[in-house]
Parts: sequence; C-alpha cells; structure tokens
Amino acid sequence: MTAADLAAVMAIERQNPGPWNTSQLADELGQSLSWQWIARSSDSERVLGYIIGRTVADEAEILRLAVDAKHRRCGVAQHLLQHTFTELRRNGTLTCFLELRVGNIGARRLYEKNGFQSIGIRYNYYQSPDEDAFVMTKSLQE
Ligand SMILES: CC(C)(COP(=O)(O)OP(=O)(O)OC[C@H]1O[C@@H](n2cnc3c(N)ncnc32)[C@H](O)[C@@H]1OP(=O)(O)O)[C@@H](O)C(=O)NCCC(=O)NCCS
Repeated sequence: MTAADLAAVMAIERQNPGPWNTSQLADELGQSLSWQWIARSSDSERVLGYIIGRTVADEAEILRLAVDAKHRRCGVAQHLLQHTFTELRRNGTLTCFLELRVGNIGARRLYEKNGFQSIGIRYNYYQSPDEDAFVMTKSLQE
C-alpha cells in the first residue's frame, strides 16, 4: 500500500462499521512496525482489498482486513491472509492475533478456516455500533 492507494482504500473502509479515516491510514504507512498489502485486479486498475497489521518482536496483530463489497467471496481475503502468513513467517513472527466483532460471522468463518482460534472476549470493545470482540490467535510455527 502506498499513499496513492489511500483514496481507494478509504472507499472500502467506508463500506464497513467503524471506518478509519484517511489520516489514520496515512499514519500507518509511516509506522516502522506496520505492514500493509493491497490486492489488485489483474489489470492493476482497481484495489480489491487490503490488509494492515503490525509486528512487535515475534507477535503480529491484524488491524484491518477488508474486501470491496463487489468482489467478496472470490478468494481475495484468503489470498491476502496467505500472503501475510508467508511474509510474517519469513520475518520470524511466531504468533498472529486479531479482534473481530462477535456478530461478524463471515470474518469468523474466514479466520477459523485459516487456523485462528478464539481465546477470549473483550466486552464492549467496539463502538458505532457497540459490540463485544472475539480475540483470536494463530500460531505461525506449523
Ligand atoms: C470478511 C471479508 C474480509 C472476507 O473477504 P472475502 O474476500 O469475501 O473472503 P474470501 O472470498 O477470501 O473467503 C474465504 C473463505 O472465508 C469464509 N467466508 C468469507 N466470507 C464469508 C461470509 N460472508 N459468510 C461465511 N463464510 C465466509 C468462507 O469459508 C470462504 O470460503 P468459500 O467462499 O470457499 O466458502 C469481507 O467480507 C469483508 O471485507 N468484510 C467487511 C470487513 C470485515 O469484516 N473485515 C474483517 C474484520 S477483522
């Protein structure tokens, strides 16, 4: 992800509850511990989805993962996750964490399919709308 992608990423962010704003996304690009990857259409014209996270020591956290509503259920998120796991392993990351809304059944299925397990609940973690979060983790050592 580069600054040139921010408008397209923001358009996808706005499709979902609790979107980040442009300056939050831009700040992330400048963070040394942060990583971001974009999935593009085969002609490279369109941003289909993206993933943003951070790694501290040997632990990574996925902060954002979203796919344009017009391009869901085509394997874009699966592809982004597989790429992320490959890169994190290459950098020696041992564990990956994330939070998601308890009502986000589609994302939960996606993460479970990719080896994440729920390890707890953070009550009232999200606003607009208020909702609890599942905390999920996956070992990258297998
Ligand atoms: C969750 C999200 C990222 C999935 O992206 P996607 O590109 O549609 O997902 P994929 O096509 O790669 O799906 C891979 C697998 O995940 C599961 N899955 C994905 N979306 C699902 C849904 N809505 N319902 C049930 N299972 C789902 C399925 O097992 C799917 O495999 P299948 O299509 O062969 O059945 C997308 O729906 C999205 O952007 N949602 C809004 C933002 C969000 O919720 N982000 C995650 C919060 S941390």
